[in-house]
Amino acid sequence: MKKSQLSSYVVLFLLTLSFSVSRASVLSSILDITPGSSSEDLLGCLLSNSNNITSTSQLLFTPANSSFLPVWQASVQNTKFLKPSTPKPSVIVTPVEETLVQTTLHCAKKHGYELRIRSGGHDFEGLSYSSDVPFVMLDFTNMRAIDVDVANRTTWVQAGAALGALYYAISQKTDTLYFPAGLCPTVNIGGYIGGGGYGNLLRKYGTAADNVVDVRFIDVNGKILDRKSMGEDLFWAIRGGGASSFGIVLAWKLNTSVTVTVLHQKSNHISTSLGTLEAYHMHNDLAYVLARIITAEVISKQLNTEFNKMKFDDDLAHLQSILALPCRKS
Ligand SMILES: Cc1cc2nc3c(=O)[nH]c(=O)nc-3n(C[C@H](O)[C@H](O)[C@H](O)COP(=O)(O)OP(=O)(O)OC[C@H]3O[C@@H](n4cnc5c(N)ncnc54)[C@H](O)[C@@H]3O)c2cc1C
Ligand SMILES: *[C@@H]1O[C@H](CO)[C@@H](O)[C@H](O)[C@H]1NC(C)=O
Ligand SMILES: *[C@@H]1O[C@H](CO)[C@@H](O)[C@H](O)[C@H]1NC(C)=O
Ligand SMILES: *[C@@H]1O[C@H](CO)[C@@H](O)[C@H](O)[C@H]1NC(C)=O
Ligand SMILES: *[C@@H]1O[C@H](CO)[C@@H](O)[C@H](O)[C@H]1NC(C)=O
Repeated sequence: MKKSQLSSYVVLFLLTLSFSVSRASVLSSILDITPGSSSEDLLGCLLSNSNNITSTSQLLFTPANSSFLPVWQASVQNTKFLKPSTPKPSVIVTPVEETLVQTTLHCAKKHGYELRIRSGGHDFEGLSYSSDVPFVMLDFTNMRAIDVDVANRTTWVQAGAALGALYYAISQKTDTLYFPAGLCPTVNIGGYIGGGGYGNLLRKYGTAADNVVDVRFIDVNGKILDRKSMGEDLFWAIRGGGASSFGIVLAWKLNTSVTVTVLHQKSNHISTSLGTLEAYHMHNDLAYVLARIITAEVISKQLNTEFNKMKFDDDLAHLQSILALPCRKS
């Protein structure tokens, strides 16, 4: 959409707003859905609720925007949905902070749009980026911070972070801690834990969901909750019951207490310039391999290229063939 068009929507919306009631009652009517609203109303709502219209408008994509399709396609992992007939969102919102997530929920409800939440786009049925009814896609691609607290052995990770990025962030801070999750590095923590999350250390440490200690979560009324304020029942349900059935996960706090022995070694089928880390877990006197995780530079290169759209280097095809192994679709 052109900037001038965008501004006229804003002006229109502001005019409408000046005739409407106070913001408090706008918020209190959050549950009222007005069917038949156009995407202009939706955009106006998103922009008028932001404190910086210039920066917020750069986070919104409509089909008129030339970046719309690349942004939508970026994490469509099931290639059968990469076709023109797949229903696309009316607006894609890519927040960099929590307030815009709340605003998106508020505006989608107010204007009668369904909300689809996408972290890594690995949903087998494409439910995070497609729908049969008009919808807004909330894409966590810009919210992928990872904060490893080595002393407390915990890690806060935002919904849009990939498992590979999580392993890499932990490996940058310590050689001994680990989070027991899956092998495919591009699966994102947002959807993964919502589905329970099985992985290579499952038999010893349980599912990934068993190793979550706290959460930042937005409920249907737009309220931000943590484990304490939501209570144990909801905290139990969102870890396996499909988080999007209940609300929006902003971040998980993980118990990264699991200790592993990391052996640095070169593997002969990977170019030596890259190097690999292979993590083995030693169990009593029977040393058996539980995990074989290629992390460090390999993952970081993969993630950089995948998520930051940087230029592929010569090794990429080779790297991808290695990294694709645990990501193979059955
Ligand atoms: C190649 C491949 C390998 C896989 N390997 C494993 C594995 O080893 N172990 C395992 O347990 N699973 C595995 N899975 C399944 C995977 O964990 C699920 O598909 C998971 O839901 C993907 O999360 P995502 O964020 O990448 O996907 P998305 O498509 O973004 O999300 C999946 C679902 O979660 C919802 N969701 C996403 N983000 C949020 C959020 N922030 N708040 C609320 N709801 C949200 C979406 O709306 C959607 O319904 C694999 C899947 C693929 C395609
Ligand atoms: C709003 O965002 C734009 C673009 O990011 C920035 O240049 C500008 O300084 C911001 N304005 C205010 C008032 O913060
Ligand atoms: C599309 O979005 C990008 C990124 O926010 C922005 O820079 C660009 O101006 C938008 N294009 C149109 C046509 O609005
Ligand atoms: C552990 O976490 C607590 C509470 O979040 C914090 O106050 C404390 O400083 C942390 N401890 C260390 C050693 O970082
Ligand atoms: C974290 O995980 C370790 C290892 O499994 C376990 O001993 C510990 O009790 C867990 N801590 C919490 C707070 O769940």
